Amino acid sequence: MSLIRDLSDDEARAALPQKWGSVAPGVIPAYVAEMDFAPAPVVRDVLVDAVRRGVTGYPPNDDLGLGAAFSAFAGRHWGWSPPEKATVVTGDVIGGIHLALDVLCPPGPVVVPLPCYPPFREVVAVAGRELVPVLTDPDAATAGLDLEGLEGAFAGGARTLVLCSPHNPLGRVWTRPELESVRDLTARYGVRVVVDEIHAPLVLPGATFTPYLSVDPTAVLVTSPSKAFNTPGLHAALVVVLDPAEQERLRTVPLPMNNLYSPLGMLAAVAAYTDGDPWVADLVDRLDQQRTLLGKLLAERLPQARMRPLEATYLPWIDLRAYGVDDLAGPALALGLRLAPGQSFQPGLPGHARLNLATSPERLTTIVDRLAASIQAPTP
Ligand SMILES: Cc1ncc(COP(=O)(O)O)c(C=O)c1O
Repeated sequence: MSLIRDLSDDEARAALPQKWGSVAPGVIPAYVAEMDFAPAPVVRDVLVDAVRRGVTGYPPNDDLGLGAAFSAFAGRHWGWSPPEKATVVTGDVIGGIHLALDVLCPPGPVVVPLPCYPPFREVVAVAGRELVPVLTDPDAATAGLDLEGLEGAFAGGARTLVLCSPHNPLGRVWTRPELESVRDLTARYGVRVVVDEIHAPLVLPGATFTPYLSVDPTAVLVTSPSKAFNTPGLHAALVVVLDPAEQERLRTVPLPMNNLYSPLGMLAAVAAYTDGDPWVADLVDRLDQQRTLLGKLLAERLPQARMRPLEATYLPWIDLRAYGVDDLAGPALALGLRLAPGQSFQPGLPGHARLNLATSPERLTTIVDRLAASIQAPTP
């Protein structure tokens, strides 16, 4: 029997206060990246036990075994593992990117390929850096990285690249040759790559994940079990660098630069990486089924919609420009569906939406019905 258990609406409202608490009863929230599934039993059990033991103090000075657990997980899943000591604990992935920008990255503008997870743009601004966006052609067959655009940005002085791998919202899993091209180009310009691999455990059948550090050992990896295990509220993520001097620099930053992680999050992360393989296997299986269902539903009800082949994540990126729509968020919400509009991932990009298929088949069917209805509905 699968370890994935669907939450009812009431359960989801209690378990996922941002996702379900932000919509009125009857509205399906398909915008934020959280899954409508009950927590992995291995994670739930370790948390219940820790709360019983009263583990509510400050985080420890050591990493509670998180570096070792991640190394073993990476070795089992991707055939590559960083040394245990390469992991420094942080609060969340965006906080980890901020830390990397402040402590490890050369001064100067920061390149972010668009569309991107919206806080990528914000963290660059908050870190006091200039953002250099490089656009991905929405009509390109493979949605590959624009190497010429990247080179132009580096030639113009940018010295950091923030890369999302696998990519949210494009759903791409970069191939090893693609990542080697990024490594060669960035090496030529002395550019530091900060790579966000939070979606790596969510690579779906048909694609192969390549850890960027296995291609470019000078990069900074930021990751977390929070997407694959639905635990973003627990706050424990990882910054991984291979240079021991840089590990030391990260470990010795002043406290306010890196103190937003919790022992509960760390315990959950260790459990997830150590004992969570059966959960990840069942999850990927379920997401694969949902991907097939979504493809079928779109073909039936929105035949002109173009879904990017979803190679990873549970966040399909849908191009609805053929229907002549610009931003569907308003009409969809009026019909009971909260989606993520394309503009929030790339300002000015018309006619795109990101959905979330990590839900029940019934809800996914209703999501597509409401999406189709919102295309026909007059703009409110
Ligand atoms: C690419 C990417 N990075 C980072 C995050 C944030 O994750 P967390 O808050 O769990 O660190 C998300 C959340 O959806 C994401 O999609």
